[in-house]
Amino acid sequence: MTISSRPRLSIIGTGYLGATHAVCMTELGYDVIGMDVDVEKIARLRAGEVPFFEPGLGELLRKNLETGRLRFSTSFEEVAGCADVHFICVGTPQKKGEYAADLSYLDSAIAGLATHLNYRALVVGKSTVPAGTAARLADLLAALAPSPDVELAWNPEFLREGFAVEDTLRPDRLVFGVRSAWSEQQLRAVFAPVIEAGTPVVVTDFATAELVKVAANSFLATKISFINAMAEVCEVTHADVTQLAEALGYDDRIGRRFLNAGLGFGGGCLPKDIRAFMARAGELGVDQALTFLKDVDEINMRRRTRVVDLGFELVNDSYIGTKVCVLGAAFKPNSDDIRDSPALDVAASMQRHGAVVVVYDPAAMDNARQAHPELCYADSALAAAQGANLVLLLTEWSEFRQMDPQVLARVVAHPRIVDGRNCLDPAVWRAAGWTYRALGRP
Ligand code: UDX
Repeated sequence: MTISSRPRLSIIGTGYLGATHAVCMTELGYDVIGMDVDVEKIARLRAGEVPFFEPGLGELLRKNLETGRLRFSTSFEEVAGCADVHFICVGTPQKKGEYAADLSYLDSAIAGLATHLNYRALVVGKSTVPAGTAARLADLLAALAPSPDVELAWNPEFLREGFAVEDTLRPDRLVFGVRSAWSEQQLRAVFAPVIEAGTPVVVTDFATAELVKVAANSFLATKISFINAMAEVCEVTHADVTQLAEALGYDDRIGRRFLNAGLGFGGGCLPKDIRAFMARAGELGVDQALTFLKDVDEINMRRRTRVVDLGFELVNDSYIGTKVCVLGAAFKPNSDDIRDSPALDVAASMQRHGAVVVVYDPAAMDNARQAHPELCYADSALAAAQGANLVLLLTEWSEFRQMDPQVLARVVAHPRIVDGRNCLDPAVWRAAGWTYRALGRP
């Protein structure tokens, strides 16, 4: 396919998903316009600055801005005037006070764009949504667009934070939820370089495309909670969950990935997606089909309480007057995202129990400070550990995995550590004089 026959693309919503998608599609050779109603975000992107931490994305943004094929705008009218395929990448957060997803950003993006579509165009939803949303949005689009030839497609996104560029340029699979051969052709043209590189494509209906995303995240959450449930059993049988996971993982049918027991899952996707899925199942009258997800959620939340309890045992049953060093604030390494971060949840809980908590994270300090001004913050792991009665490793940044236990022992008041991510070698830490405790291992 020549460049000239490639559709011109717009990306509406330039958060994690949209900004990455805009940059990567330009990298693949397309003309792209990214759009957001957040003026400041667009100004930063125009200046070559990624508004969040994502390895490799800043360099790729600046490289592609120089080609002149990547632009940013805050106007629906401008976007409608210079693209053939419009991707909707806005957020669908959990509604305040309920489990269901808040679709208001999605509705206003479709409405804002639709009134300017007076030509044949394809609108592609990428946001994670409850089943049935795409069908409703197709009706909304038909009602608002001046042209009768505007179609909707659904193309869920599976990118992981920290690997967003890699996952977008080389995804495991592409899923196209379409209602016409023309929509499928357009999507095949949009992803031609990815498809030519051998990525499998599943072409399906709207509802299946919507479900793939929530089903995938539910499966991943279930896998993590499964191994964390095994960790609970290991704790009373004195077994080692890390060796259990290794042995299970050699079975190809099970696989080793997503079997890391520890503090459990957080972030902007897994927790909210399983909850929104349960809420939607209830509305559809099949809530029984997903009651297991409630257990998945509960197992996950219990791990946070367990870390607080483990720490409590180590400080002789009182947090009052103790200094606790928390290593990690992001919900996972290589990210500055603190949405539903298990690490910060534990840190805040210990502080409420009377400890003075000092947090250090290599990337998420600003976000953590904003969300939890009641906690103390230090500029390095060693500074955070200064005089600590207890150290907690809660996000497995490589900087923490590689810490020298001898060096750390010299600055703490008491060499006691809870390895909340099972990422340290207990023998090495114990040999260096530390009282080492972890989740699901002796
Ligand atoms: C997830 C999905 O992986 C991705 O496909 C989807 O598009 C968005 O949601 P993300 O939220 O970026 O991606 O993070 P992920 O790597 O899945 O990790 C989620 C959480 O699970 C993190 O808090 C992580 O620490 C935890 N986790 C992961 C474990 O506790 N154990 C594991 O074995 C793996």
